[in-house]
Amino acid sequence: MYNILAGQRGVAVQTYKLNNGLEIPAVGFGTWQTPAGEVTVKSVREALRVGYTHIDTAAAYENEASVGKAIRESGLPREKLFITTKLWNSDRGYDRTLAAFDWSLKELKLDYLDLYLIHWPDAKDKEKNISSWQALERLCKEGRVKTIGVSNFKQQHLQPLLDAAEIKPAVNQIEYHPGFRQPELVDFCRQNDILIEAWSPLGSGRILQDKNLQAIAQKYNKSVAQICLRWCLQNGTLPLPKSVTPARIKENYQVCDFVIAAEDLQFIDALPEFGWSGLNPDSVPF
Ligand code: A2P
Repeated sequence: MYNILAGQRGVAVQTYKLNNGLEIPAVGFGTWQTPAGEVTVKSVREALRVGYTHIDTAAAYENEASVGKAIRESGLPREKLFITTKLWNSDRGYDRTLAAFDWSLKELKLDYLDLYLIHWPDAKDKEKNISSWQALERLCKEGRVKTIGVSNFKQQHLQPLLDAAEIKPAVNQIEYHPGFRQPELVDFCRQNDILIEAWSPLGSGRILQDKNLQAIAQKYNKSVAQICLRWCLQNGTLPLPKSVTPARIKENYQVCDFVIAAEDLQFIDALPEFGWSGLNPDSVPF
């Protein structure tokens, strides 16, 4: 379902094709842990300036208004951009989901979204996930969001949703980086035509000092961050690197002018687990 044009030497950042036929830019700009206000406005504006067209935010990040401001200030036409936000846990359920969506659009000052995700599954109440999902389906049918998906859903959360869904989730955004690649979940999603988006593709910075990754980075004359992002792309996943630092924002977008050889991809795949956030969707306290 996905194309891996991004895996070819010299090809600029490309797109993945979603299970509804729409295209999504293969590298997105993450804004988790970016404080609202000037920091978000400046970093998103910088990202848009250097070429990102895909921005990922969430109601829970409390920076949607600042993301929206940066989008307006960029002067870029809305249709050139791909904007994602997410439903927070306290807004689960059909009616609350519809209201939360309206609130997010108002914060962003947008009239439609490209992608709306359920941020975390309700691990104890699958009916709640389904009623939230039905609200997302309605929003999709009304054209207020082009694509709908989930985040942090494991197989046991996804299967009931797939069984009940009229519109299948197109995306599952999960923690994914060298040292934490959740292979069974990734395979399950792939079998169901669900694109994996990688949050914390740099392990939120925790994996950047790893000696093995540093050796590979040296071999390709790239930064460890670029190796992590390139590894995501060559594994058919969509990385969402976050940075508030202009040089890093640019560096993280320059990941399409080299190819990691198969043996090095396999070496990274085989690294023992490290750098996990510790956030387990079945037991997060929020
Ligand atoms: P900062 O925002 O201060 O630039 P992730 O995307 O996995 O959540 O990682 C984000 C973390 O990694 C942030 O602390 C960010 O710092 C840092 N970071 C982002 N890009 C790079 C890079 N190219 N080199 C080093 N650190 C980076």
